[in-house]
Amino acid sequence: MDSEHIGDSEWSELQANLEATIPVYDRINRFATLGQDQRWRKGIRELIPTNSSVLEIGCGPGTFSERIVGCEVTCLDPIPAMLEVARTRINKARSERGENEAIFVEGTAEEIPLPDCSFDVVCCLFSFRDFQDKRKGLQEMLRVLKPGGQLLICDAGKANFLHGWLGWLWMKLWVGSYARLICKQSDHPWKWLTKTYVHFGTTRKYKKMMREVGFFPVKGRLLFPGMAVRFIAVKPE
Ligand SMILES: C[S@@+](CC[C@H](N)C(=O)[O-])C[C@H]1O[C@@H](n2cnc3c(N)ncnc32)[C@H](O)[C@@H]1O
Repeated sequence: MDSEHIGDSEWSELQANLEATIPVYDRINRFATLGQDQRWRKGIRELIPTNSSVLEIGCGPGTFSERIVGCEVTCLDPIPAMLEVARTRINKARSERGENEAIFVEGTAEEIPLPDCSFDVVCCLFSFRDFQDKRKGLQEMLRVLKPGGQLLICDAGKANFLHGWLGWLWMKLWVGSYARLICKQSDHPWKWLTKTYVHFGTTRKYKKMMREVGFFPVKGRLLFPGMAVRFIAVKPE
């Protein structure tokens, strides 16, 4: 694993562990981020113009897309069990709001099984870190965006080595202890959060990568209290 790639066997193991987090996913996220994850997701949703066609890459159990209002929503994830939980949850919320159903697609960011130039907005909440090939994922997300469309990414923040070390300490001690308690096992699936974070690159690295694949302009900044990073990247007209 490095800041750009995750090898096949490690990625398969990561996927199995992500699937195992489903029953406690929201609960542990709340604890791990001191409740800030909801605010970060809301901040990304507020950047989506009404009536947009939105693609969420790595939708997980639906925590983000459940609350997108007034848009056409497509959710993509490689784990069928995640898609099933997301389908039930998101379509229940959409039907209560009188909106049509979202679309659910099994696949990866690196090979998005959807046509070119089909979305106004592509969102990636806490899934970019898990991509097997981050550059390829960015190229694919650029391909499916309409010209002028925006890519919105939120993930664990890493400004530099020291910040990364503090983040690692937080995940290892705070999140790890809680996850051990909740999952009632020392070999709990949240260990992978720390593993993928250790190899995650800095904000500067991914801003550069986004520009290299063709996004412009690209912005990236840490979100208060510094545990997360948000990127906003535009597909040029
Ligand atoms: C931590 S969950 C994030 C869920 C959700 N987006 C949220 O806001 O909490 C990460 C998700 O990314 C998915 N994922 C992992 N690798 C991926 C890839 N290469 N392409 C697309 N999704 C991927 C996982 O299956 C998992 O459901």
